[in-house]
Amino acid sequence: MTIARAPLFAQLVANTNNGFYGQDIISVRQFDRDKLAYIFGLAEEMRHMVQQIGSADLLRGRVLANLFYEPSTRTSSSFMAAMQRLGGAVIPINEVRYSSVTKGESLPDTVRTLECYADVIVLRHPEVGSAQIAADYASKPVINAGDGTGEHPTQALLDLFTIQEELGRIEGLTVAMVGDLKYGRTVHSLTRLLGLFGARLRFVSPEALRMPGELIEEVRARGMEYTEHDDVAEIIGEADVLYVTRVQRERFEDQDLYERVKNCYVITPELLQSAKERMIVMHPLPRVGEISYDVDKDARAAYFRQMENGMYIRMALLAAVLGRA
Ligand code: NCD
Repeated sequence: MTIARAPLFAQLVANTNNGFYGQDIISVRQFDRDKLAYIFGLAEEMRHMVQQIGSADLLRGRVLANLFYEPSTRTSSSFMAAMQRLGGAVIPINEVRYSSVTKGESLPDTVRTLECYADVIVLRHPEVGSAQIAADYASKPVINAGDGTGEHPTQALLDLFTIQEELGRIEGLTVAMVGDLKYGRTVHSLTRLLGLFGARLRFVSPEALRMPGELIEEVRARGMEYTEHDDVAEIIGEADVLYVTRVQRERFEDQDLYERVKNCYVITPELLQSAKERMIVMHPLPRVGEISYDVDKDARAAYFRQMENGMYIRMALLAAVLGRA
């Protein structure tokens, strides 16, 4: 078959010089603009390949261990689909009991077990720093699929890819992040990545859920323009991207506080009447009330396209890390 596969499949020989081969993906701090362009270009090719022929044999014979200590629908199933669409196989582990791992004790042994069988390990874990611990013990690549309130690098890559695809650029945009900025790892990673592009940031949250000081320091150090707000109405008119997040119930020590802030923002069609005609609403999902269902039919609602992009980005990362792109 010769159907339009040339750009990707011309490079079918193992590429161990792509800057990703054998590497762990732990934090978005590992990325610069060249690396992003490489992964985004590859993700584009993955999209075309999936749309035209559905699957390929790029990773045939390779095995991914998908190790999830926290619930997941999108991240877990898109990594599985990514591996399978590239001809590889998956060991799915979703039923771990993590109480004995919280001190870092058996996580090293778990990853050292899985790497006997798999070529790459995807890990989601409730503790900040767990992906780095796993990577320190494993000799095979570890990809961080969310470490507690820390980072979620593959999500930030698909988020940035979505902004680029939808709006054609990243530089100079005004990106508003709304909701749980304290515990939401996706906004932590996305904020760091946007630092490479000089976007203007609008942080909207209740006082108790502000962006952590460490991130604010990083934003300042990069010289990015940012402001903090309580009310979405203050920023809705200027936002090119409205990135909405779920209040992360599972991270609250004080459940009364959760009850007080859980419904702090709801994005509605009425609110979007004040938004630009060319802007997008994003959400890493799952949503639990922050975006009303009648926003879904608005062309600016990009969250379903965003989650589809997740599979292409993860296909690109797996191919790159395994040296097949
Ligand atoms: C996010 C996560 O797990 O951090 N979900 C996801 O990966 N798409 C966001 C969330 O759980 O609220």
